[in-house]
Amino acid sequence: MSVKKICCIGAGYVGGPTCSVIAYKCPELQVTVVDVNPQRIAQWNSDELPIFEPSLDEVVKSCRGRNLFFSTDVDQAILEAELIFISVNTPTKNYGLGKGRAADLKFVESCARRIAEIAKSSKIVVEKSTVPVKAAESITNILKANVKPGIKYQVLSNPEFLAEGTAIGDLLNPDRVLIGGEQTSEGQEAVSALGWVYQHWVPREKIITMNTWSSELSKLAANAFLAQRISSINAMSAICEVTGADVSEVAHAIGTDSRIGNKFLKASIGFGGSCFQKDVLNLVYLCECLNLPEVAAYWQKVVDINDYQRRRFSNQIIQRLFNTVTSKTIAILGFAFKKDTGDTRESSAIYICQHLLEEGAHINIYDPKVKKEQILKDLSSRPEIFDSPDRLNELVTICPDAYTAAADSHALVICTEWDEFANLDYKKIYSHMLKPAFVFDGRLILDHNSLLDLGFHVEVIGKRLTRDISRVVRTPAAGST
Ligand code: NAD
Ligand code: UDX
Repeated sequence: MSVKKICCIGAGYVGGPTCSVIAYKCPELQVTVVDVNPQRIAQWNSDELPIFEPSLDEVVKSCRGRNLFFSTDVDQAILEAELIFISVNTPTKNYGLGKGRAADLKFVESCARRIAEIAKSSKIVVEKSTVPVKAAESITNILKANVKPGIKYQVLSNPEFLAEGTAIGDLLNPDRVLIGGEQTSEGQEAVSALGWVYQHWVPREKIITMNTWSSELSKLAANAFLAQRISSINAMSAICEVTGADVSEVAHAIGTDSRIGNKFLKASIGFGGSCFQKDVLNLVYLCECLNLPEVAAYWQKVVDINDYQRRRFSNQIIQRLFNTVTSKTIAILGFAFKKDTGDTRESSAIYICQHLLEEGAHINIYDPKVKKEQILKDLSSRPEIFDSPDRLNELVTICPDAYTAAADSHALVICTEWDEFANLDYKKIYSHMLKPAFVFDGRLILDHNSLLDLGFHVEVIGKRLTRDISRVVRTPAAGST
């Protein structure tokens, strides 16, 4: 089947950037991204895109209205396209069977049903969303049970590996593109048709094809391995803090082993983002359903250590602030789950702020890209913390910059590794903070020795600096008050 028109259902963090890059690299293809959310589509059609992603603006603006369209007319786009990406959200189920672990496939299923209802010609349906193994089989079953005469469907698995903050670079230059399909001649034809789209810019040897189930499982496996690396280095960070070892040195030492490699070994306040926790839990649930409890328990620990790391960090803040943060002011720098994105889904900052709010702390939050409404919405996800409706606004202040957040605070906490936080004027910040002034670097991005010289009491993940508060009090920064 030759592909001329592509439809992508789901204009989110994956559908939007992925299809923008396809349109950018394949000018002869018409790409229409559709969504049930009219506000999101209006934003994609405006000057302010719904997501912040470096270089996304340029890519969208170069092809929007030419061969890239954003629309709420899902049915029309399905009708016209030969190839349809399903790129809708697959969140962790928060109800019923598998609650808290299984992926909720209701949005994927409703796309399959819509395609079956609307289509008047054969389609290649591509599962771009991250799904449990055998989801493609369910989509196939729904499509085939509702098939109209003369129409044929092929369902492919084509998981997405982009990371937020680097999505455009990842899409333009992927490590690999994975396509899973049925091992039949029709299945292989569909695989070739999708492969041809990617070959416009991805070298053929980077396009890996395999059976559908391997492809589906490979996506969960990749995210589980990546998340496991972070939990492993974070577990090491706890040992470092007690023993006096330095987690960055340990990471460097093990990372130079070519079998281990040096990426994804940065200790932190725990991984966030919409994928890692969801996909590991999805894998845990899959293992339980397959009656593999030991395997399920193994992967569950990756999430447990992540929760532990977040709690450990907030407990450390409370302990160092003389075992109480009640009514103290804490400046939180960064709320996004990583730098270069405005996304806060599962951000560790949410959990750390909630732990501190539970203790009655006042928190001043600054993030360069996250909007005030989003921060307040995220923090109110646990209403039991606040004993009255006004309490959230009483305890939380969203600040326009890092200096305002830090003024008159007892402690400064780095939650996201935004570049600008490494280049702040910490002498100025110190002079406007209450003393002793504490810095908690949860991302290992600051120059800790300079901060100590300025008079800060510095605590970092995975490294013991100074526990001696008297040193801080005796050596204030020159010129500070
Ligand atoms: P998202 O929530 O940003 O976007 C999903 C969009 O789908 C939403 O705008 C929603 O309105 C729309 N939608 C839901 N049901 C629909 C329907 N029936 N018809 C039309 N639109 C519908 O989600 P996302 O972050 O883009 O993730 C999408 C999928 O890709 C998930 O399975 C996720 O696990 C996977 N994934 C995400 C990332 C990432 O970095 N965010 C990376 C790789 C894979
Ligand atoms: C991840 C996968 O990397 C990507 O391939 C997949 O498609 C979607 O999920 P993403 O969640 O966008 O991407 O970002 P990623 O760079 O993986 O970071 C996830 C979290 O791990 C962030 O909170 C980040 O700060 C944290 N992290 C990452 C660490 O704590 N240490 C590291 O060494 C790397």
